[in-house]
Amino acid sequence: MTNTTFPQQRPFLVIGATGKTGGRVVDRLERSGLPVRRASRTSTTIFDWTDRSTWKPALDGAGAVYVTYQPDLIAPTSTADLTAFVAAAEEAGVDRLVLLSGRGEPEALACEQIVLTGGIPATVLRCSWFAQNFSEAFLVDGIRGGELVLPVGSVGEPFLDADDIADAAVEALTGTGHTGRVYELTGPRLLSFADATAEIGEVLGRDIAFVTVPADDYRAALLAEGVGEEFTEMVMTLLRTSLDGRNEFLTDGVREILGREPNDFSDVAKRAALQGVW
Ligand SMILES: NC(=O)c1ccc[n+]([C@@H]2O[C@H](COP(=O)([O-])OP(=O)(O)OC[C@H]3O[C@@H](n4cnc5c(N)ncnc54)[C@H](OP(=O)(O)O)[C@@H]3O)[C@@H](O)[C@H]2O)c1
Repeated sequence: MTNTTFPQQRPFLVIGATGKTGGRVVDRLERSGLPVRRASRTSTTIFDWTDRSTWKPALDGAGAVYVTYQPDLIAPTSTADLTAFVAAAEEAGVDRLVLLSGRGEPEALACEQIVLTGGIPATVLRCSWFAQNFSEAFLVDGIRGGELVLPVGSVGEPFLDADDIADAAVEALTGTGHTGRVYELTGPRLLSFADATAEIGEVLGRDIAFVTVPADDYRAALLAEGVGEEFTEMVMTLLRTSLDGRNEFLTDGVREILGREPNDFSDVAKRAALQGVW
């Protein structure tokens, strides 16, 4: 954080406060003694992207807002929701927006433009795949079970530590010079999913297999597990587009906003292993 005497008294609203990045943003703001309003469907302040009646009470009196969209910016609802949300935030007197976005998705780019051109000073954090998808999200069970199955080949992805995202978000929420900026954040190394799985196995001292399956088989498996059709199609689109090679490059976004190198995937794996995640 560049300005530890930030004068804002109005609470920072964190949407997705129980999530991988939102929770970390909350922790950092609170450790700095800043007022925080935690929001999500199950947080103290109820906020639900699918129920617009919850937006105004959450926004009223808030200063800066950390915006994480659910289920994903690639969802067909995202642009309409973000348009309405920015209007509601402006009406509520919000003075800063920081949007968590994803790389290489046309829908995410459209949402970024909505936020950047909406009349409230805004910053975008356009992020690569989170390293914590392996330890705090949908890949965790495969790692625990000793076999990770995905319709993904040898493409390299620069997995990004959610701690780096949270540091960047807090800087964008509290620092100066970030208005209108898009920071493209990646980790420091390209790793295939097989590489990443093997690194976790090395940290744990046991073999974890990575198996590539055809997309149709993976789709069928999700449906058989009871995942809804709409959500399944969204996941398939997300996997297909974000991992087709278009994002197979590194950026210096973490250095640009934080003035330091991004954390390595192996650091995240070691931390998660120490916490007994797997
Ligand atoms: N994961 C990645 O690798 C990645 C990479 C780039 C960008 N992103 C973007 O990051 C965002 C967050 O995704 P994530 O998968 O990492 O999730 P996450 O932030 O770890 O967790 C979901 C959070 O959203 C809340 N939430 C769920 N449904 C909600 C709803 N309908 N309304 C309000 N809050 C809701 C959850 O809390 P409650 O259950 O209490 O509501 C939780 O706080 C997405 O927009 C995604 O596009 C993700």
